Amino acid sequence: MHILRAQQFSRPLLEAVFQRANEFHILLGDAFGKRNVRMLFTGSTMSSIFDAESLRTRFSFEMAAHRLGIHVLTSQNATQFSATYPNEYRSRGESLEDSIKVFNTYHPDIIVLRHPEEGAAERAARVSTVPIINAGDGRGQHPTQAVLDTGTIQLRFGRIDDLTVIIGGDLAYGRTARSLAYMLSKFKAVRIIFVSPPELRMKADVLAHLQEHHVVFAEHEILEDAMPLADVVYWTRAQREKAVDGKVSYEDISRRYCIDAALMKRMKPDAILMHPLPRNEEIHPEVDDDPRAWYFKQTGYSVPIRMALLELAMTNTVAGKSVTGMM
Ligand code: NCD
Repeated sequence: MHILRAQQFSRPLLEAVFQRANEFHILLGDAFGKRNVRMLFTGSTMSSIFDAESLRTRFSFEMAAHRLGIHVLTSQNATQFSATYPNEYRSRGESLEDSIKVFNTYHPDIIVLRHPEEGAAERAARVSTVPIINAGDGRGQHPTQAVLDTGTIQLRFGRIDDLTVIIGGDLAYGRTARSLAYMLSKFKAVRIIFVSPPELRMKADVLAHLQEHHVVFAEHEILEDAMPLADVVYWTRAQREKAVDGKVSYEDISRRYCIDAALMKRMKPDAILMHPLPRNEEIHPEVDDDPRAWYFKQTGYSVPIRMALLELAMTNTVAGKSVTGMM
């Protein structure tokens, strides 16, 4: 199956993925377990096509693939098929659809795609005979990150229901914030507080989805006020490279929102601070040693989560169980 957007996950499917990720996490803990998981997909191939900046996500997918014994073919800056690049940067001007059709003829078992255009993964999936995983499409979505983010919350609290989550930073251009909001709507009694400057508010499509699913949410500008209410603070960086229209003064915003040790004093003692990374100036490095800073734990958990997602996309099963009954 394709993995294209957060909305496509049902709660039972998500929970099965979390459980499978935890199994992989334990198995990776010793040499015997590692050897066993490496046998699972020996002989399979993943094409990892990254047509937009990525280091963390690409390495995390590729590490997950290697752990499962999957061969990896990789391309960073595969700019040749992106229409958003001016012609002089598109090496040979091939369309995304054509590129996917070509890659299909080489019969990979899975294609992981990052692309600068919103909707690119859906377009790829329309023509692909091979499952596509969306590893980030412009301002659109980053569904595997949202599985990782909700999985991390589940790992910390043993539940996601009945938690208050601040999602803050650049909500207009950040796709991880969008996918996380969609994903949280699967759970019961979750309260979301969006914190951003007015020019970077969460877009109407996400807010409409939350309303439709009766998720309680609020929008705030001042992080200091919201901080004491949250169980999870999920902060994101200013997406300077995506906001090309020049309407946003990112310098002002970065000065306004910086989570430092003083601000952490306002956070609940058992809350956690998350961030999809890369971080810029929005979280001061002095916070890293605070036990509530969970962003590096979060990245570490991405490998077992993506192993479970690769298995899901390639086999339509989680730990041998068909997903048909879980959708
Ligand atoms: C995020 C992304 O690419 O959307 N990073 C990631 O996948 N780890 C967040 C970002 O770029 O700010």
